Amino acid sequence: MHITLVRPEAAHKEQAFAFRQAFFDAGERVIHGSELLDRTEKYEPWLLTVTANTAPETVSPDWVVTDTFFALDFTGRIVGIIDLRHTLNRFLRDFGHCGYSVRPDARRQGIASEMLRQICGIAKRAGMTSLQLSVMPENRPSVRTILKNGGVYQRSFPCEGQQADIYSIAL
Ligand SMILES: CC(C)(COP(=O)(O)OP(=O)(O)OC[C@H]1O[C@@H](n2cnc3c(N)ncnc32)[C@H](O)[C@@H]1OP(=O)(O)O)[C@@H](O)C(=O)NCCC(=O)NCCS
Repeated sequence: MHITLVRPEAAHKEQAFAFRQAFFDAGERVIHGSELLDRTEKYEPWLLTVTANTAPETVSPDWVVTDTFFALDFTGRIVGIIDLRHTLNRFLRDFGHCGYSVRPDARRQGIASEMLRQICGIAKRAGMTSLQLSVMPENRPSVRTILKNGGVYQRSFPCEGQQADIYSIAL
């Protein structure tokens, strides 16, 4: 699947909310990798925050430098979202550098695999040497996505009464 990763812009507002609504309509209230797009009331403050968080000078004091991208298909439709945290703080130590979600009606077409492949290139160009990702073992699509991109199991940690697994991708 051919996709293009683009930074969120003001012009994406309508589409971004339609993208979000597609998850809600499918009964999914959490959109992984969306930097809380799932919880925001208004697009503009979300856009301001994700834009500010891309630079060390403007990143929120309680967060780490993070790049957020929409994945557009060849028609320009938003089909996915992915974020890349450049460093890990105490809170993120287990959660890792990257989260992602694909629009429910666009899954199983290779979009997540391609988003993660492209984010690995972006991370490498930003000077990162490895990506850490955490996943619930029963989330087979996400585990497969990580393995297909060279993920190697590292360790597990307790997460909401269950066990989550941490994988590392060497860049
Ligand atoms: C996980 C997720 C991002 C995968 O997106 P996707 O675009 O459907 O993934 P891909 O099409 O790239 O498929 C990746 C692999 O998973 C497999 N896969 C996808 N959906 C699957 C399913 N429902 N059951 C079993 N395997 C599945 C694919 O076959 C592929 O493996 P293969 O190449 O060996 O066949 C998507 O299911 C999603 O958005 N889930 C909700 C959010 C989430 O869980 N994010 C990850 C948090 S760690």
